[in-house]
Amino acid sequence: MYGEVCAVKELSLAVRRGEFLTILGPSGSGKTTALMMLAGFTAPTSGDILIAGKSVAAVPSYRRDQGIVFQGYALFPHLTVHRNLEFPLEMRGMKAAERAIQVDRMLERVHLKGFGGRMPSQLSGGQQQRVALSRALIADPPLLLLDEPLGALDRNLREQMQVEIKSLHREFGKTTICVTHDQEEALTLSDRIVVMRAGEIEQIDTPEALYDRPATRFAAEFLGEANFLEPPGFQAESDVAPPLGTVAMLRPERICVAERGAPRRVDADQRQFVCGIVEDMIYAGPLRKYQVRAGDSVVIVREHVAADQQIFRPGEEVRLNWLRSDVRFVAA
Ligand SMILES: Nc1ncnc2c1ncn2[C@@H]1O[C@H](COP(=O)(O)OP(=O)(O)OP(=O)(O)O)[C@@H](O)[C@H]1O
Ligand SMILES: [Mg+2]
Repeated sequence: MYGEVCAVKELSLAVRRGEFLTILGPSGSGKTTALMMLAGFTAPTSGDILIAGKSVAAVPSYRRDQGIVFQGYALFPHLTVHRNLEFPLEMRGMKAAERAIQVDRMLERVHLKGFGGRMPSQLSGGQQQRVALSRALIADPPLLLLDEPLGALDRNLREQMQVEIKSLHREFGKTTICVTHDQEEALTLSDRIVVMRAGEIEQIDTPEALYDRPATRFAAEFLGEANFLEPPGFQAESDVAPPLGTVAMLRPERICVAERGAPRRVDADQRQFVCGIVEDMIYAGPLRKYQVRAGDSVVIVREHVAADQQIFRPGEEVRLNWLRSDVRFVAA
C-alpha cells in the first residue's frame, strides 16, 4: 500500500533457484512495486519474503546479495562509467588491480570498450542501460532483479542484449526476476512468466503454455495477438458453443486463408469455416498479415510467406478455416 493506493494486492509466488522468472503486465499493474519489495526498497504492508528459506523482510537492501537494474537505469550521475561498475566490487572488498580487470572485461562484453572515462550524462540511453546491466552483473550476485532492463534500447541492440542476458543466465545460473511489459522479451528470456493485472497474478506458466493455453482473455491478449470468436457478431459454420463464462480464442497463425470457392480440404470435418472480405493485407518480411471482416468482427490472420502462395488483396472474398482443436476457451 502507498497510503490509500493498493499497488500490489495479492502476490504469492515461489521462485525456483536458478530460474529466470519474468513479471509481465501493463503499465501500473504493480510490477515495479513487486520488485522493489523483493529488493527491500519498499516494505510490504503485510506478508513476508523468504530467500533460501529465511525471511529477509527485515534485512536492508544494501545487506542483500543481489544485483539490481532499476527502471530508468539509475546510475550514479557523479561517477564515471568505470567508477559505476567498480562500485559493487569495491563494496565486496576487491583489490583495485583486480577491479580494473573485471571492469574492462565487462565493458568489452557489452560493447562499451573505451567508454570507462565518460560520465553517465555523456552516454545515450541505450549505453546507460548497458552500464546499468553491467553493474548489476559484475559482482556475480546469486539474485538478479531487473526492472525493464532493455526498455530504452533499439530493436537490434535489444535482441543482442536479450541473447547476452540469456547466455549469462545459462552460464552463471543466477536466479533472475525480470520485470517487463514487452511480451517478446518475456517469451525470449523466461523459464516462467507471471502475468500481472491490477496488482494481482493473472496466470503463471511457461512461455509456451501461456501462449498456447492462456487461462483468461486478458492473458491471451497481453501475450501475443488473439482473435475472439464471439457470437452474434461472429458466426462460423459448425460452431461449438463455448462453456459458460468463456470465450473462444484463436491465434492468428492458426488460421488459413483460401479463395471463397476453393475446394475444401480433406480434413474439412475437423475444421471450422467462415467467409469474409479482406480489409487489409500487410506484408511484413517473412509474414503476411491479413485483416478479414467476417460479419461484425475483424479477424487477424498471420501467414508465413511461401513461394507459390496465393496473395489476397483488399476487397477480395475469402474463406478462412482452422482446426477446431486450435480453438481455446478462455475465461471471458
Ligand atoms: N510511491 C507511490 N505512491 C502512491 N502510489 C504509487 C507509488 N508508486 C506506485 N504507485 C501506484 O501503484 C501502482 C503500481 O505501480 P508500479 O510502479 O508498481 O507499476 P508498474 O507495473 O511497474 O508500471 P510501469 O510498467 O508503468 O512501470 C500504480 O497505480 C501507481 O500509480
Ligand atoms: Mg515499473
